[in-house]
Amino acid sequence: MAEIISGTALAAKIRAELKLETDELKKAGITPGLAVVLVGEDPASKVYVRNKTKACEEIGFYHEQYNLPATISEEEILDLVDTLNRSAKIHGILIQAPLPKGLDFKNIIDHIDPNKDVDAFHPYNVGKIMIGDFEFLPCTPAGVMELIHEAGVSVEGKNCVVVGRSNIVGKPQAMLLLKENGTVTVCHSKTPNLADFTRNADILVSAVGRAGLITGDMIKPGATVVDVGMNRNEEGKLVGDVDFSSVEPVAGYLTPVPGGVGPMTITMLMKNTLKAAKLSVKK
Ligand code: GUN
Repeated sequence: MAEIISGTALAAKIRAELKLETDELKKAGITPGLAVVLVGEDPASKVYVRNKTKACEEIGFYHEQYNLPATISEEEILDLVDTLNRSAKIHGILIQAPLPKGLDFKNIIDHIDPNKDVDAFHPYNVGKIMIGDFEFLPCTPAGVMELIHEAGVSVEGKNCVVVGRSNIVGKPQAMLLLKENGTVTVCHSKTPNLADFTRNADILVSAVGRAGLITGDMIKPGATVVDVGMNRNEEGKLVGDVDFSSVEPVAGYLTPVPGGVGPMTITMLMKNTLKAAKLSVKK
């Protein structure tokens, strides 16, 4: 029976540490500041943005939230990004994805000051991740690494399989596992016989967004399984990519949904924002 790695508990522990560091920084006259930009009415994005704002409150960050209508022009968003780039109170800028149709997410990200790019989405920071030399870790992959470490699992020499190749999770996840000397395979929707790969995984990270994709027969006994999926099942319940009931008896460690990767992603965003605030002093 797999040991469950609680992201809720680990996130609470790390946030308490971040709060102490933030209190120290505030004594030195710097309050970390995060700007969160939500465009349109996507219900899932609204929940994420609310949770990000709540985390700011909890740790004691200054925060600004912009709720913009889906009809806004790209120029207006770029003007806001310019303003936030220049704001002395703001150390981190987050544009919640996905954006409504007609807005070019990549172009908007390109305009964020890389020193304030706490999502690590700007090509400059993506390049830094590629060469293993980074200020900001991509939030979800960094949260996954923290969960693996919390379980006491070493990545070095392990077969690591990442399912999903998105710019937000799959690709940077592969880089972080590689940096810790894992042997990394990236699988995706065009991979034939996915189970042939997953069955060899000592560490399996699934970031696809399909409920029930990973079943117990696809798991190597004792493997560490991290579920990045966030899906609604037929009953409207939040579930991951992993079929929990069939995987739990086979895996060694398993993260739940909810309460696994989700709270860690936001915690890593807070960590990046604190780091951005500290770096702003040095620059
Ligand atoms: N949408 C889903 N995940 C993320 C994330 O980590 N950052 C942003 N900005 N948008 C997202």
